[in-house]
Amino acid sequence: MTAGGWMYIGPQGIVHGTYITLLNAGRLYLNIPQDKDLGGILYLSSGLGGMSGAQAKAVEIAGGIGVIAEVDGSRIRTRYDQGWVSRISDNLDEIFNWVEDARNTKRPLSIAYSGNIVDLWRYVVENDIKVELASDQTSCHAVYDGGYTPFQISFQEGRELIKTNIQRFKDLVDESLKDQFELIKVMTNRGTYFWDYGNSFMKAVFDAGVDEIAKFKDNPAEGFIFPSYVEDIMGPICFDYGYGPFRWVCLSGNEQDLDKTDQIAMNSINPERNAQDRDNYNWIRDAKKNNLVVGSKARILYADAKERVDIALKFNESVRKGEIGAIMLGRDHHDVSGTDSPFRETSNIRDGSNVMAEMAVHCFAGNAIRGMTYVVLSNGGGVGIGKCFNGGFGLVLDGSERVDNIIKNAIEWDVMGGIARRSWARNTNAFETAYNWNIENENRGHLTLPFIADDNYIENIIDSYLKTQKRNEKNIKIRE
Ligand SMILES: NC(=O)c1ccc[n+]([C@@H]2O[C@H](COP(=O)([O-])OP(=O)(O)OC[C@H]3O[C@@H](n4cnc5c(N)ncnc54)[C@H](O)[C@@H]3O)[C@@H](O)[C@H]2O)c1
Repeated sequence: MTAGGWMYIGPQGIVHGTYITLLNAGRLYLNIPQDKDLGGILYLSSGLGGMSGAQAKAVEIAGGIGVIAEVDGSRIRTRYDQGWVSRISDNLDEIFNWVEDARNTKRPLSIAYSGNIVDLWRYVVENDIKVELASDQTSCHAVYDGGYTPFQISFQEGRELIKTNIQRFKDLVDESLKDQFELIKVMTNRGTYFWDYGNSFMKAVFDAGVDEIAKFKDNPAEGFIFPSYVEDIMGPICFDYGYGPFRWVCLSGNEQDLDKTDQIAMNSINPERNAQDRDNYNWIRDAKKNNLVVGSKARILYADAKERVDIALKFNESVRKGEIGAIMLGRDHHDVSGTDSPFRETSNIRDGSNVMAEMAVHCFAGNAIRGMTYVVLSNGGGVGIGKCFNGGFGLVLDGSERVDNIIKNAIEWDVMGGIARRSWARNTNAFETAYNWNIENENRGHLTLPFIADDNYIENIIDSYLKTQKRNEKNIKIRE
């Protein structure tokens, strides 16, 4: 999750994002109170690879139970050695005994099932096991290139078959996806909440020949029967309020600098303000303990526009006083603004502009003239070339007053441009954020708010226009 920013902060970004997604899925679908975690709740999914590997760690941080299927033993070993997954087994009876224990004690637990996701789904269906939350993170964006291993063969056999008989491999993939869909359907009818995790799973099922997965059978671009995690969760709960993956790197490379910045950031967040801030506060409080730093001394923290500015100004002040070395600020493309990506980040922008590159370009250009250290305009981050545009930035905090001014101008612009766009697209939470910004910043600026037209009123006008047209045509014909 680094496109659009050119900052490598290791895998902690995806862990933070997945942690927030899982907690909010629990609140949204299962009515878990805002101040509670996922204790005793089962999350079922697949993939312990590059991004998907975050699921096991994130579900434990969120307090829940995760069973994640993975066909590649080497991937499981990596995650286990890292401490991201707690137990491994290829025996589903054993796994669900562990799950039962964890349910009773409400202890967090992540389990890698060494096997195929389809076999895991089949087991829960046949044994009538309760699964509250579920998703899929096999690499379905490259489904016929080895991103998805069909259940009829092992991971190794799959690799061989791709080389020797690609058509046979494709047929097996299609069959496997169809079975997976049928099993998921059984479970969702029994009460499981399933969502798409940005891996093109639903599009792959559609392409395998299952048109009932599309809302409109002829046109998958109109969406699918299961929600995407951005449409239901990240969009309305985070992005529309300005919460997104703010991040920084301590350029000194010193661990102590990272500790100090964690402390400054934690002190800038009021956990009593709302559920998002409570989650983010807990995240930053436990960030060091969770040991997610790989390489650069970096940190990610979801924050809204005001918090990002506050934190950045405090960091710059600390640099000025010589308490810490220079800091580099940035953000992920998987954010409020800066990205036009209709299959993911902008999937809850439904005014037609979600297929244009305006937000990324505006953000990029606005950040450039407001003095960011560097700006990036790139294509393809996260979902693939041709499917999105990303505008990113980096800002070096050198302790100067000049940089204070850039922080005040550019960082707020970077976030609020996205809020304006989301609000124009009728997302009520973004409208509320923009409305409140206008009140709080009366003397500084104004975000134009949309006039929401009444759908019935518009339909009536069009209907009566069409009727008049028809009447006129009829009259002309009679005269002729
Ligand atoms: N949700 C997000 O924020 C987000 C972010 C980036 C990427 N993605 C998408 O998620 C998907 C996974 O990303 P990744 O980086 O982890 O990819 P990856 O290829 O590194 O990992 C996917 C894993 O799934 C395993 N797998 C494949 N078929 C399987 C099956 N049938 N049963 C069990 N395991 C199986 C593979 O062995 C692999 O380890 C991609 O499509 C990616 O585009 C999502």
